[in-house]
Amino acid sequence: MPHDAQKRAAGEAAIAYVEDGMVVGVGTGSTVAYFIDALAKIKHRIEGAVSSSQASTELLQARGIRVFDLNAIGPIPLYVDGADECDGDKCLIKGGGAALTREKIVASAANKFVCIIDPSKRVDVLGKFPLPVEVIPMARSLVARELVRRGGAPVWRDGCVTDNGNWILDVHGLRITDPVAMERELNQLAGVVTVGLFAQRRADVVLVGGAEMA
Ligand code: 5RP
Repeated sequence: MPHDAQKRAAGEAAIAYVEDGMVVGVGTGSTVAYFIDALAKIKHRIEGAVSSSQASTELLQARGIRVFDLNAIGPIPLYVDGADECDGDKCLIKGGGAALTREKIVASAANKFVCIIDPSKRVDVLGKFPLPVEVIPMARSLVARELVRRGGAPVWRDGCVTDNGNWILDVHGLRITDPVAMERELNQLAGVVTVGLFAQRRADVVLVGGAEMA
């Protein structure tokens, strides 16, 4: 099955988790775009969405789906998002689309996190995909030195400014055998806004398009 068809299959499969009257948390990326297309077909059944990025907000609104501010909503029953890597414990690397901070916020507010991926995203050990770290701009070099001390090779994502006005370091060369510990450790560094490891709040369900559904 072609790559895009696998992403579409995953996005469409997540509709099974949407219940009537829900406010649905919506992630960011090309797989999520397929979910948004499918969600638009049942938009009369839902209350609306909470979005994780400006890009997804524009897609949702263009399809006539109401977008709520997270502050106006209590806990969200469902969050649907893609990932750059997913291990066997449903821990994720996210942030390839630079939306990791708002994605982590919405995921944390959600009772259930359904992750939608194509089979290429499945790995035994996280880290082949460079780990995105969102940093306050003035702390870029400071954080980069700390990441080097921990065995990583950070690369400044040239020209990328996040929805929050920050910058991204993509950390190459990590082999992340304890994602919870690494997420906790990197979160402590001054200047780090968000680490693209979703291990403390990992996925609850992983839908792999074009493969058996996990
Ligand atoms: C954006 C993300 C995306 O979920 C991740 O990059 C996967 O994207 P795609 O579905 O386009 O492969 O974390 O920040």
